[in-house]
Amino acid sequence: MTPTPLVQTLVVDDEKNVTDLLKIQLEEEGFGVDIANDGAVAINKVQGKRYDVILLDLKMPRVNGIDVLKFAKENHPDSQVLILTGYGDIKTAVDTIKMGAFDFITKPYNFEELLVSVKNALDMRRLMVDNKVMKMQLQSGRFEIVGQSAALKEVIDIALKVAASDASVMITGPSGSGKELIAHLIHENSDRAAKPFVAVNCASIPDTLIESELFGHEKGAFTDAHSLKQGLAEIADGGTLFLDEVGDITFIVQPKLLRFIETGTFRRVGGTAELSVDVRILSATNKDIHREVEEEKFREDLLYRLNVVHVEVPALGSRREDIPSLVEHFLQKKSKSRQVKRIAPDAMRLLENYDWPGNIRELENVIERAAILTTGDEIRPESIALTSKVRSADLRRIPTRLSLAELERIHIENVLKANAFNRSKSAQALGISLKTLYLKIKHYGIETPALRI
Ligand SMILES: Nc1ncnc2c1ncn2[C@@H]1O[C@H](COP(=O)(O)OP(=O)(O)OP(=O)(O)O)[C@@H](O)[C@H]1O
Ligand SMILES: [Mg+2]
Repeated sequence: MTPTPLVQTLVVDDEKNVTDLLKIQLEEEGFGVDIANDGAVAINKVQGKRYDVILLDLKMPRVNGIDVLKFAKENHPDSQVLILTGYGDIKTAVDTIKMGAFDFITKPYNFEELLVSVKNALDMRRLMVDNKVMKMQLQSGRFEIVGQSAALKEVIDIALKVAASDASVMITGPSGSGKELIAHLIHENSDRAAKPFVAVNCASIPDTLIESELFGHEKGAFTDAHSLKQGLAEIADGGTLFLDEVGDITFIVQPKLLRFIETGTFRRVGGTAELSVDVRILSATNKDIHREVEEEKFREDLLYRLNVVHVEVPALGSRREDIPSLVEHFLQKKSKSRQVKRIAPDAMRLLENYDWPGNIRELENVIERAAILTTGDEIRPESIALTSKVRSADLRRIPTRLSLAELERIHIENVLKANAFNRSKSAQALGISLKTLYLKIKHYGIETPALRI
């Protein structure tokens, strides 16, 4: 018995030779294929079964493609519809995109191109479904965490598990990776959620002020202390105190912080009364805090108190699967009331191949800029500005048996892919002229999609 195909498609066209050929071609690719030779049959099929992708002809007698599209989108919004259309119907085809179709393909179709479109549609579908799952898990929080990589799921898992306890959690990870977001997630899922979440950025407050920021001061404690001021620890009472950039706290303040964490008590600067509060301590740093301890810049006993549970947020470059859903998320977020822009597949490839040294914050900025610069509804590679180099192959892993020519071919191919097959950009990155690049593409027989300069 052959196993049930994982991907189910429906091919709708009134020309039987079209549906029959597509059935053979798609089945060869491992897809499950049902066919319908008119709109009414298509609607019946869609009613009875959930299809991943529907290939849909527009012009059919009785019920036309537009009605099938409407029906499919209303009943199974995550089914992706690809419109098959003749050259004369391009305008209608464009309108179908606005109605929720994923893409359109003109007839006579080229099967390779059609397949790329089907695969893109499936990626989009997976993204929609995964996002829904993730959104449901985190519904309780105002802070939406997007991504479906195993690495991110593990971080979220630990965060949710420790949320209920009062344990101190230290969150480490590179800049812009989402440490503060994880701190919020922990707070929102704890019993303290209704109480304040107070963040203190330890790096931005000068040494002389951090103690009074944290613990407050009495009137007249120092020259500028004109009135009594409550510290952030007091304001956070009952809730969570988030010590951001905790690695930047100097040796002078560290013992005071340690005492506070150990006893829950403190004195305001210039005060004598011992005050006590009930706060849960979360902290974050992008420094290698263990090295700071070795170099005697950070007290080991303080680290021990802060780091009862350790959560490491991985760099975006090590969980690239999260990139497409983050891109979608930021597109939605940045579009506000305007129509949400789409991202062209070659632009998405560019984003997926970049190494993201500034992590998610950098991605967010790149998308915001691209959304502003794009006047149409599709973001093209030209609007995407990446500061550092596109991810390059790990040079140490190149097998030594490769000839120089083979290496050149592979490198040219990689650079072309990384630049979404934009010849001018690729030539520039390779440091050769456009003409030389053309000659080399021809020489090596490198396959490239339709000409794009
Ligand atoms: N998984 C995610 N889903 C959605 N948004 C995210 C995700 N991770 C991070 N962000 C967003 O990216 C930005 C940077 O995240 P955050 O401020 O939490 O990073 P950080 O690790 O604290 O950075 P830094 O070390 O620079 O302080 C924020 O706007 C945050 O909302
Ligand atoms: Mg931060």
